[in-house]
Amino acid sequence: MRSIRVCACAESYCRVEVIVYVCICNAVNERSVREAIGRGCRTVGEVYRGCGVRPQCGRCGTDIARFIEQHDDASCEAAWPIAAE
Ligand code: FES
Repeated sequence: MRSIRVCACAESYCRVEVIVYVCICNAVNERSVREAIGRGCRTVGEVYRGCGVRPQCGRCGTDIARFIEQHDDASCEAAWPIAAE
């Protein structure tokens, strides 16, 4: 993954937007990947299709899989909250 700062100023008050690119070959950022997962994509291939791209070098597959796992873990915790004692 690569992060890119959109604003070039170095002012402390500036709210710089940082874009994290998950797939460099296709310029797919983290937000697009998370949106695709949020729409129901549950495999790396589905995320590529959900983002409207095809894998090229495939190096981003591990990162995309990690995002899917994180989403599944969070969904599981939300579905099965720990009972209060
Ligand atoms: S970085 Fe995603 S296909 Fe190359």
